[in-house]
Amino acid sequence: MANLVEKYGNVAAIVGGQWGDEGKGKLTDIMAEEYDLIVRATGGANAGHTVYIPDPDNPGQTKKFVFHLMPSGILYPNVKGIICNGVVLHMQTLFEEIERLRENNISLDGRLFISDRAHLVFEYHKIIDGLQEERKGKNAVGTTKRGIGPCYTDKMARIGIRVCDLLDFDRFEQKVRANLEILQKMYGFEHDPSEDIEFYRSKMDEIKPMITDSVSFIQGMMKEGKNILVEGVNATLLDIDHGTYPFVTSSNASLGGAITGSGLPSRKITSSIGIMKAYCTRVGAGPFPTELDNEVGNQIRETGGEFGSTTGRPRRCGWFDAVVSKYSVDLNGLTAINLTKLDVLDDLDTLKIAVAYKLDGKTISSPPAAIEDLARVEVEYIEMPGWKEDISAARTIGELPENARKYVEKIEELLGCPVEFVGVGQSREHMAIK
Ligand code: GDP
Ligand code: IMO
Ligand code: MG
Repeated sequence: MANLVEKYGNVAAIVGGQWGDEGKGKLTDIMAEEYDLIVRATGGANAGHTVYIPDPDNPGQTKKFVFHLMPSGILYPNVKGIICNGVVLHMQTLFEEIERLRENNISLDGRLFISDRAHLVFEYHKIIDGLQEERKGKNAVGTTKRGIGPCYTDKMARIGIRVCDLLDFDRFEQKVRANLEILQKMYGFEHDPSEDIEFYRSKMDEIKPMITDSVSFIQGMMKEGKNILVEGVNATLLDIDHGTYPFVTSSNASLGGAITGSGLPSRKITSSIGIMKAYCTRVGAGPFPTELDNEVGNQIRETGGEFGSTTGRPRRCGWFDAVVSKYSVDLNGLTAINLTKLDVLDDLDTLKIAVAYKLDGKTISSPPAAIEDLARVEVEYIEMPGWKEDISAARTIGELPENARKYVEKIEELLGCPVEFVGVGQSREHMAIK
């Protein structure tokens, strides 16, 4: 795909526009062909970003990678990746990903960096995540149990342990044991942190060269005229401030988090590209106004392979929701949209799009703050005819069948933002552009 930097500028940001798993990994990988540095700014191993690339050993076949912490553009040999201050880092998961790349003869030498200010996720965070979910009972969030919330809680409580703490290993060990003391008393559990500590001891030689001050690093890349792409994780409706609280993750997953989580000055961001599925999915609990708890929902789940990349859980499926999507456009100041997985709707006779919510008889233009209200909104839909044909060969939006084009144009009109990429399949080449 040519001229991406020309179009999207030297500091582009990819943002999840719905409830996650929209296909952020795929566009990151595609854009990485033209960008030099991929930035992970928020979230942690709750993310699962899938990338399919041509298999070098089997012509015509593809190879699948699922990244949780590794920046997705790293499959291009000249691309650098950095995990910034806003990320909660489970180092063991990152090393599993490094290992998988090594097995595939993909060298990361001098290409992967970690902020000295990123917070570390320990096994005890995962234990606490599980305990919190268990104790919430029917109000459980349905977290990924990756310790995300508890690690961010420690960060905010100012007892978190950061990458820089590893540089004095005795002090690091003391801090881990001291924190665990506090947390065990608070949450009522017992745990021996030795396995985590020994893991770090054994990996320090490999970790040390990756540690950097990410702000200076990014500034340096910008001064050299390099192109930077922020790979958003999780999604706008899962944002701790702007999402469907409390059924959200514990960080700012919308564009604001990309800024605080990386130290990139906001005025340097040249474009923000929202990723949205041509329908909606959600994994975990929480209200979902356009959910299809029926045969159509099942068909979308099967055709779209809607099972979590991180936990394998079946994703809940529903119609495209222009109310939450418009909210994402406005909140993130989106400059373009990548509508993904349009091909999944190929077989449907009729499609619906949610265009408004009504609450107590009044039309509301954005999701209400109270989750109880979101759970009881009445949804107004428009209907559009399906196209009933395979669209996987389209490489421009103009090549899509008329009804598919009309569907895309209707979304553009409702959201007031151009749809510049349309996903028509899983692989790199499966993207129709404007
Ligand atoms: P992410 O978390 O936003 O990166 O998305 P995930 O990787 O969790 O989930 C998206 C899934 O949809 C992955 O299995 C992708 O391979 C797949 N995918 C992405 N774009 C398309 C598309 O346009 N068509 C189809 N059929 N699959 C897609
Ligand atoms: P990517 O980057 C989909 C959801 C979880 C749960 C809630 C809180 O792959 O799009 P957490 O473990 O973060 O405390 O879980 O948020 N969630 C995601 N859902 N995609 C994600 O990331 C998600 N990250 C978190 O399912 O409902
Ligand atoms: Mg995902």
